[in-house]
Amino acid sequence: MYRLLFDLVFRRMDPERAHEVAFRLIRLVAQVPLLRDVVRRVFRSSPEGSVQVWGRRFPSRFGVAAGFDKDALGVAGLTMLGFGFVEVGTVTAHGQPGNEPPRLWRVLDQRALRNRMGFNNEGSAAVAERLRHLRATPAGRRLVVGVNIGKTKATPAEHAAVDYATSAGRLAPYADYLVVNVSSPNTPGLRDLQSVEALRPILEAARVAADEATAAAALPPVPLLVKIAPDLSDEDVDAVAELAAELGLDGIVAVNTTIGHDLGPGGLSGPPLLARGLDVVARLRSRLGPDAVIIGVGGITTPADAREYVAVGATLVQGYTGLIYEGPAYASRISRALAADQALRGPVRRKAVA
Ligand SMILES: Cc1cc2nc3c(=O)[nH]c(=O)nc-3n(C[C@H](O)[C@H](O)[C@H](O)COP(=O)(O)O)c2cc1C
Repeated sequence: MYRLLFDLVFRRMDPERAHEVAFRLIRLVAQVPLLRDVVRRVFRSSPEGSVQVWGRRFPSRFGVAAGFDKDALGVAGLTMLGFGFVEVGTVTAHGQPGNEPPRLWRVLDQRALRNRMGFNNEGSAAVAERLRHLRATPAGRRLVVGVNIGKTKATPAEHAAVDYATSAGRLAPYADYLVVNVSSPNTPGLRDLQSVEALRPILEAARVAADEATAAAALPPVPLLVKIAPDLSDEDVDAVAELAAELGLDGIVAVNTTIGHDLGPGGLSGPPLLARGLDVVARLRSRLGPDAVIIGVGGITTPADAREYVAVGATLVQGYTGLIYEGPAYASRISRALAADQALRGPVRRKAVA
């Protein structure tokens, strides 16, 4: 059914426009209580699929990867489809338009996407305000929301730590976890921040700013993670893992889109990422030990793909491109499969990297 809709309607539209239309529809449905309840019932998965991570209950361990809901506009709508959590962002300290379109392409023969969006977003003050509203209601507080933060394009690399810290401070009081994104290929120089020397001051500054903000609001500290690229060498993955353990980071998100392709500018997502994503997660698990929180993302199309991530050591998993090609039943299919596995295995609890 969705295949038909995709082939007849979405495929004929500009990909960014199709995203806007579909996302607007999801948000619209979520605003009509009767409709929302019906959709939620259709896509609901079993409570046995919930996991306890950092002391917080995630209704499913399958969430929406960063980039789909950059400005925190559709958290309730995405959760209605069966996602257990939403990672909003990437949010930057200053709002910015992103790159000139066209900046999103379908790679139909691989069921993949290529994008060079360039962190189009309203900025961390606006997104914090939106999340403050969301958190003002009991229903909004129940939703699990991660916030992914990045560097404003205009901020020079030497001021990156201040840029990240500004966003961390604004967003920490409303986030269930924060992700320092140093791995998107579409902000010049951003991925260089993955080197240990560049990353250390950013993570330290983000930690301090987040802690000050949560302490001022009498809230517990927010878990802080880093998101890495699939294009890092194995040695660089190990170096980030060591730094994460040394700084007592609360987890790692692996992986972002890859520049390892010859299709044109931008990062590739979807099935071509799966093998490397699994490799990186397995490597991180072996380096960080059994208690670390690892969010596995990259190329999850089917429940079998998500199960593979869990099998190699992912605590939580995420998807983006799969939602575009598989349609609205994507999340519930995967959440239900993971819930069924978990019913056999028993409860999951994880703490931090260190
Ligand atoms: C159009 C698009 C925009 C994205 N924007 C972001 C972003 O802003 N921040 C980020 O950390 N990752 C971003 N990503 C990467 C995804 O979060 C994810 O890491 C990657 O797409 C791999 O997952 P997938 O194969 O399930 O899509 C984006 C991906 C796509 C396709």
